[in-house]
Amino acid sequence: MKLSAEQIQSNWEIFLNNIKTHISGNRGECLTNFYKRYEERIILMPAAHKKEYHSAFPGGYVDHVNRVVRCALKQYELWKEEGCDITTFTIEELVFSAINHDLGKMGDKDHESYIPQTDQWRRDKLGEDYMFNKKLAFCSVPDRGLFLLQQHDISYTFNEMIAIQTHDGLYDAANEKYLKTFMPEQKPRTSLPYILHQADMMAARIEFEIEWLPKFSQDSVTKSKKNYTLNDNIKSSKTKALNKLSSPGLKNMLDNL
Ligand SMILES: [Fe+2]
Repeated sequence: MKLSAEQIQSNWEIFLNNIKTHISGNRGECLTNFYKRYEERIILMPAAHKKEYHSAFPGGYVDHVNRVVRCALKQYELWKEEGCDITTFTIEELVFSAINHDLGKMGDKDHESYIPQTDQWRRDKLGEDYMFNKKLAFCSVPDRGLFLLQQHDISYTFNEMIAIQTHDGLYDAANEKYLKTFMPEQKPRTSLPYILHQADMMAARIEFEIEWLPKFSQDSVTKSKKNYTLNDNIKSSKTKALNKLSSPGLKNMLDNL
């Protein structure tokens, strides 16, 4: 998928406006300054290095984050309507967590995580338009994101820390300690992590549908035509081969192929 220059620019304005609207006081200013400092890098960042993953195209990161913010606010209304205790967290905490949930994907202050793939074979065969920058020490996305925030003096609350840490839900085994417990006292005291995880999952799924489903419907028409010809060819070669064989054992073996 490709975003036009106008879409990329408009997404960036929406991104900054979400901070302006929802993140209050000095923290809002610090966050805006942080993102403006890394603007050139973030504005064009993909959301993943492999094109099969969601939003792995220039501008995909901001596009994804904006969608997560939108979905999070909508999920909030749904949870509220169904009786969730919304006094256990604030809208600011929800939006702050959504804006920064994937921040660790940007790399560290000196190095980007995703750089253009130099291996043509990996581009062609594995669909990797980007590759991980080996100059970066390994770190999980949530850990790096939280580290970047504290490194730039951007404070976060306990609720925001847990929400960012667990935004992948149980897709990340590291979150089992927070999410896979049966002891009531060990369960999160707020639904914020669940709301953020649902918003992230919803956004990623919708991005998959936008990008991949149209390709599948085109592919399936072409593939079914190809398969038809291929199956016919296999059948006729098999019949020809079977007719030539005299050994019943070999005939049986080939027939079962
Ligand atoms: Fe995400």
